[in-house]
Amino acid sequence: MMERIGILTSGGDAPGMNACIRSVVRTGFKKKIDVIGIEYGYKGLLNSNFINLTPESVTNIIHKGGTILKTNRCKEFKIKKYRKIAFDNLRNENIEGLIIMGGDGSFKGASIFANEFKMPIVGIPSTIDNDINGTDYSIGFNTAVQTIMDSVDKIRDTASSHERIFFIEVMGRNSGHLAINAGNATGAELIMIPEIKIKNIDLLVKKIKEINNKKKSIIIIYAEGCNLGPVDKITNYVQKKMKNSNVRFSILGHIQRGGSPCEKDRINSSLLGYYSVNELIKKDKSKIIGIKNDKVIVLDLEKTIKGKKEIDKNLFKITEIINNY
Ligand code: F6P
Repeated sequence: MMERIGILTSGGDAPGMNACIRSVVRTGFKKKIDVIGIEYGYKGLLNSNFINLTPESVTNIIHKGGTILKTNRCKEFKIKKYRKIAFDNLRNENIEGLIIMGGDGSFKGASIFANEFKMPIVGIPSTIDNDINGTDYSIGFNTAVQTIMDSVDKIRDTASSHERIFFIEVMGRNSGHLAINAGNATGAELIMIPEIKIKNIDLLVKKIKEINNKKKSIIIIYAEGCNLGPVDKITNYVQKKMKNSNVRFSILGHIQRGGSPCEKDRINSSLLGYYSVNELIKKDKSKIIGIKNDKVIVLDLEKTIKGKKEIDKNLFKITEIINNY
């Protein structure tokens, strides 16, 4: 059993983080565990940005995007001497274990820290990129897909009125999970993702021309990590090769990370928050609490972060079949 645990949010924020913080705090309260909020991610560990979280302090946040704990990408945490400062600060505060909400990078830091100082840690996948190995779902993903959908639907109206070809850049860092789901849900004629490299750009132009012969307006979902580089560059290239068409691009940007979490992101956040506290207080090896096949699962933190999550090939293939004729 533990008496005091800490929670922090790290990396890019994700809708649902607040719902999860709320769940952790209220679960801790029922178990008579003090939950300390660490502000500004790992940076807050270095600077002792600790705040007491009470059941009242997390009232009315279930529906709010962002994170009340603030977040950060902390370069210093990659250096051992700073991690030692972080550990000493935690010890001074009598914090016995940590819940870390974040993505791949945050979990890598967590795993090193856990090993170095024998600090029990539970990671909760929280990133719109949905790229945590061994899990199907991460907090914020579904809201982000919904946001992309709403935007692409609007672009579809104008693309079709002007008979234009649109490249729409979506986030995802080095992964295409957001792009595939958004592409399926918006009926995008083409989805370009980092996992499938384009070796010959002229073959791509040929494919766009073929689609364009049937439909005069095309939506291409372009994941930011694609191997062809910046979306404006590829748009210009295609425009030069298709002089009779109108080619445009739109970068959706940080709009994808904000907003009120959707139903799934709220419910899963509540579940993952609850189970993370139960897992942490076992003082076992460090873990990730995730969701696979619609069930809450427990994974070994160290082993899980070594692998890369594969794309849903089946969804990609079916989307290609049904979004074109
Ligand atoms: O990891 C989440 C994410 O939104 C990525 O999809 C994106 O590449 C990155 O963060 C952007 O980070 P920043 O807000 O620091 O520019």
